[in-house]
Amino acid sequence: MLHKKKIIVFASLSVFVLLGIAAVKPPFQKERNLKVLPKDISDAKLDSIMQTYNIALGVKCNFCHVPMKNMKDSLNYASDAEPMKEEGRKMMRMTIDINKKNFHYNKADRPEYLHVVTCKTCHRGEPFPPED
Ligand code: HEC
Ligand code: HEC
Repeated sequence: MLHKKKIIVFASLSVFVLLGIAAVKPPFQKERNLKVLPKDISDAKLDSIMQTYNIALGVKCNFCHVPMKNMKDSLNYASDAEPMKEEGRKMMRMTIDINKKNFHYNKADRPEYLHVVTCKTCHRGEPFPPED
C-alpha cells in the first residue's frame, strides 16, 4: 500500500517536472505575429527576407517597425503599430500571388519563398515607386 502511494507521488511529480520544462522551453519557436509568411520560418530566413525589403525600398527596418516602449534603440518587430507594416503585408501578398500564378515551377517550393518577381522588380530602391 505504502509502496503504491510512493509510485503515485513520483509519477505526479514527474508530470509536473515535464510540464515545467514544456512551459519554459516551447517545442516550437517563440510566438510570432505572422499573417503572411509561414509560421515555421527560421530566424535566419525571416531576417534575410526582411533585409531584401530594406534594399528593395531603400529604407531601414523602422520604416515598418516601431521602437520598443522602454528601449527606444530596439524595434518591436511583432507590433503592428506602424501602418506601413500592413501596407507591406498587402505588397507581400501581391508579390506571392504573382509568383504563385506565374512562376511556381516546382510545386514542392513554398509560394511564400518564390522570388522571381520581388519587391525590387518594381521598387528599385524607392519606397514609393512612380506609377509609370
Ligand atoms: C516594407 C516593410 C518592412 C520592412 C522595411 C521590414 N519589415 Fe520586418 N516585417 C514586415 C511585415 C509586414 C512583417 C509581418 C509579416 C507577416 O505577417 O507574415 C514583418 C515581420 C518581421 C519580424 C517577425 C516579427 C514577429 O512577429 O515575431 C521580424 C523579426 C522582422 N520583421 C524584422 C525586420 C528587420 C530586422 C528588418 C530590417 C532588416 C525589417 N523587419 C524590415 C515588414 C517590414
Ligand atoms: C508589381 C510591382 C510591385 C511589387 C512587386 C511590389 N511593390 Fe510595393 N509598391 C508598388 C507601387 C506602384 C507602389 C506605390 C503605390 C501608390 O503610390 O499608391 C508601392 C508601394 C509600396 C509601399 C508603400 C505603401 C503606401 O502606403 O503607398 C510599401 C510599404 C511597399 N510598396 C512594399 C513592398 C514590399 C515589401 C514588396 C515586396 C514584398 C513590394 N512592395 C512589392 C509596386 C510594387
